[in-house]
Amino acid sequence: MKSKIVKSVIAAVCIAAIAALSVALVSSRRELAAAKAKMASEPSVFDAIATRTSIRMFDRTRPVGEELIERMLRAAMAAPTAVNKQPWEFVVVTDKPTLDALSKVHPNARIENGATLVIAVCGATDNGLGGRGKEFWIQDCSAATENLLLAAHGLGLGAVWCGVYPIEERIAPIREILAIPEGYIPLNLVTIGYPAQHPAPKDKWKPEKVHKERW
Ligand SMILES: Cc1cc2nc3c(=O)[nH]c(=O)nc-3n(C[C@H](O)[C@H](O)[C@H](O)COP(=O)(O)O)c2cc1C
Repeated sequence: MKSKIVKSVIAAVCIAAIAALSVALVSSRRELAAAKAKMASEPSVFDAIATRTSIRMFDRTRPVGEELIERMLRAAMAAPTAVNKQPWEFVVVTDKPTLDALSKVHPNARIENGATLVIAVCGATDNGLGGRGKEFWIQDCSAATENLLLAAHGLGLGAVWCGVYPIEERIAPIREILAIPEGYIPLNLVTIGYPAQHPAPKDKWKPEKVHKERW
């Protein structure tokens, strides 16, 4: 009798383990299929670089979802950065009154053209490098911004880099609107949304700008 019970318990445990394994297998296959579909629908790095162009008109009826925002920010933070200091901060703005306020102080921010999202890329002026390395925050944040623009494009979004630093008349009001603390400077506002225009990318290839071995 006892051995019968033990056998049934072992059989039940085996069935449960097989069921759990099958569920895990099916869900990992699904994840793999989803990842493959995503890769197939997103442009390669060369396609993304070659076809990106500034977008300045947006579909005001389509807000950008949280998942896409995080993917753009992950791309931004993957940028190269001097001594790996990562002196960047990002202010994500979707609130309409704040977008309108930004648009007033930076007319190129194009909220009136339907942008539903602005990401302010800010740099830490004290990046811990000091001396001549202090200004590397500008390059680090610029690299992050380019990654962000490429990611936006790769996700089917449109975006434009709206320069802020070093124009003091833009920095001060943006600092106030976004409550950016001392020690950080807004480098730019990246205006983002679903594109409502599809301009051809500019061909900027100029071989005469390349100097071989010496200028
Ligand atoms: C530092 C910087 C500042 C910029 N500021 C603005 C801006 O204030 N308004 C704007 O519409 N575009 C701005 N742009 C975008 C440029 O106008 C755009 O990149 C350039 O015309 C090349 O076009 P493309 O991005 O379509 O290749 C800026 C770009 C950079 C790199």
